[in-house]
Amino acid sequence: MSYDYITSNREVWNQWAKNYVAAGQKAWANDQPLWGIYGIPESEVGLLKSFHGGDVVELGCGTAYISAWLARRNGRPVGIDNSPAQLKTAARFQEQFEVRFPLIHGDAEQLPFKDESFDFAISEYGAAIWCDPYQWIPEAARVLRPGGHLAFLGNSALLMLCVSDDDETPAKESLLRPQLGMHRFEWPDDPGIQFHISHGELIDLLRSCQLEIIELIELYPPADTEETEYAFVNLEWAQKWPYEEAWIVRKTD
Ligand SMILES: C[S@@+](CC[C@H](N)C(=O)[O-])C[C@H]1O[C@@H](n2cnc3c(N)ncnc32)[C@H](O)[C@@H]1O
Repeated sequence: MSYDYITSNREVWNQWAKNYVAAGQKAWANDQPLWGIYGIPESEVGLLKSFHGGDVVELGCGTAYISAWLARRNGRPVGIDNSPAQLKTAARFQEQFEVRFPLIHGDAEQLPFKDESFDFAISEYGAAIWCDPYQWIPEAARVLRPGGHLAFLGNSALLMLCVSDDDETPAKESLLRPQLGMHRFEWPDDPGIQFHISHGELIDLLRSCQLEIIELIELYPPADTEETEYAFVNLEWAQKWPYEEAWIVRKTD
């Protein structure tokens, strides 16, 4: 088993961390959760439908604004992230906003927690895209209590078939790569290594981890949405096909 991408992604995120401070600060200041690259409100997405407080782990927490939202909603969050620089920003925001919870430097593929420690696990563009699903999803299932939920959001499988190789050109309205064999994604001009698998493979994996599917939420930006700074997809594409998807799954009793 190769863990090379854990080290290289740590280096990448240590460099990128400074670019995520402003967005993190804005998200910490906001009480209403806004999801994904277009910031769709929780009232429209419903990613937290199955969150009812209790022990929470955020997998690849980055600046940890989701953990802050959940702490303000009676959760007891723990944030884990592979990048010390991201966690440093998160720790600064804890002081600024006076919302404190444990922040752990670690790898979401090898969680430093006992079995059945959490009621809810969540990842928004954290482990959800930066970890190998065949490693992180069994780990998330292991640390969830029976009846606990995992919610995760990232780029849709369809977008990953249409997204351009470079960061500057938006996703095409045609398929640019095969779905068969999709798993590890590396880009010519981007040092980050991500993971995306097909829906069929993901469903098989979830079932093998005793995770039953509650909902697959396909996200579309509302009509009045403004373009983002991210060039890999634009509104023209995102208003026709789901640019992001969120899965809510439950560990069976
Ligand atoms: C885009 S941020 C996600 C945080 C936040 N929700 C956001 O969208 O900004 C991605 C985070 O995943 C973290 N990450 C990457 N690989 C990881 C791993 N193996 N274990 C834990 N965190 C990881 C990175 O360090 C980074 O902070």
